[in-house]
Amino acid sequence: MEISFVKPALPGSGTIVLAVFEERGLGPLGQTADKAAGGQLTRAIASAAFAGKADETLVIHAPAWFDRVVLIGFGKADKIKPAAIENAGGTIYAQLNALKATAATVIVDVFEDMPAGLNLGADLALGMQLRSYRFDKYRTVEKSGHKATLAEVSIATPHPNAARTGFGRGRAIADAVFLTRDLVSEPANILYPESFAERARERLSSLGVSVEILGESKLAKLGMGALLGVGQGSERETQLVVMNYQGAPKAKNKKPVAFVGKGVTFDTGGISLKPGAGMEDMKWDMAGAGAVTGLIASLAGRKAKVNAVGVVALVENMPDGKAQRPGDIVKSMSGQTIEVLNTDAEGRLALADALWYTIDRFKPQAVVDLATLTGAIIIALGAEYAGLFSNDDTLAAQLLAAGVESGEKLWRLPLDEAYDKQIDTDAADMKNISDGRGAGSAIGATFLKRFVKDTRWAHLDIAGVAWSKKDKATVPKGATAFGVRLLDRFVADNFER
Ligand code: BES
Ligand code: MN
Ligand code: ZN
Repeated sequence: MEISFVKPALPGSGTIVLAVFEERGLGPLGQTADKAAGGQLTRAIASAAFAGKADETLVIHAPAWFDRVVLIGFGKADKIKPAAIENAGGTIYAQLNALKATAATVIVDVFEDMPAGLNLGADLALGMQLRSYRFDKYRTVEKSGHKATLAEVSIATPHPNAARTGFGRGRAIADAVFLTRDLVSEPANILYPESFAERARERLSSLGVSVEILGESKLAKLGMGALLGVGQGSERETQLVVMNYQGAPKAKNKKPVAFVGKGVTFDTGGISLKPGAGMEDMKWDMAGAGAVTGLIASLAGRKAKVNAVGVVALVENMPDGKAQRPGDIVKSMSGQTIEVLNTDAEGRLALADALWYTIDRFKPQAVVDLATLTGAIIIALGAEYAGLFSNDDTLAAQLLAAGVESGEKLWRLPLDEAYDKQIDTDAADMKNISDGRGAGSAIGATFLKRFVKDTRWAHLDIAGVAWSKKDKATVPKGATAFGVRLLDRFVADNFER
């Protein structure tokens, strides 16, 4: 899809989209269009009781010389926020394709007294771009009507230059989101630890990020017995990928902010085998690693002024003759020993070593891990919020705020000594599950906490939000890339100074 930006003007034909604000009705250009159409637009607005509420749409077919006019609600003008504009963009994209439009002019009709500092054109373009994602590389035949028709969009805005610049940044973010969605969507026969690592290397080194790939012999030398144990039953070699982006001004050689991702490229559960039904979902058990990779791509792509490290633990959890057994005791890089009572609680084992390594090597200002860690978080929060656990109130508040702004929402849950006690065991320093069924997500988080020393740390359990069963405004159903937008915002607001 080609997106261009032009000064506000009414085209002489074709499809136009008009932004309508709640309680304001049509803007100046909308009124011109209405006059040209002999009042047809205002009559349609009245007869459909179109109020201009966020994401409300109304299609008027063939008024005057236009093919169609699509009205899109933007909500109240004085309350408008970037996330809402992006959503409107996504809705417009879906609507235009449903109408089989190939080209359209989207007119962002604005009023003088709107809040300053907005870049409506850029946000709208980003929303459209994000909604346009499709994962269709394995379809050799396509039913007609499935492919997107919309190829050319011209966005009319009072500030086309600012929109073009803003969308330059937006495009880098969208490319990164698409990278994550691709990684998460790929099946596990194509995307396994080595092929994931290779893709990360290709994409990120072209963006100027230094990428190191550590294989099993290196990991063994480092003493990563927890991570290696998870991959023991797999034919695929376990990998740890370190992505180091140095974007902060050279003068301040600042400690980095670090992001760590769970990258279980397929989770059968291992010897504690999962039931067959729905097991195919476990191809996206690497969504944390996918988000970390996309986040670093986004920061590098938009040249963020920050030093950031991404570390992803890539491993396949399979049952076979060499697989680790329930009851096995492994030694983590930290030196702490773990009794593996359930081989399906593998994400925390992989992250234990990845977190320790990251903190030990980079001494980061803060570390955030992302993981599809527990089914329990889906029971608690569904697909609306990811779970947030943190040992630092300031860090938690920064993440919660970024969640609200980006629309990738977080809900904080507790860490507690009482949960920590529940993973004590007789045979080793800890076990990887508790005895009961309660507070499964907090138990997982508490386990991770034993591997972060006193570093400021947050854990995001994204099991419920990594994959969407339905289309959302800027997220077509499938891999969401949850975390990329959130953490890009988090970095921009707190670390780029
Ligand atoms: N990858 C799963 C968690 C998961 C479940 C993600 C459903 C997405 C959808 C994780 O490795 C796992 O199996 N967790 C276990 C932990 C339990 C054994 C303590 C779980 O949640 O059942
Ligand atoms: Mn598992
Ligand atoms: Zn898992």
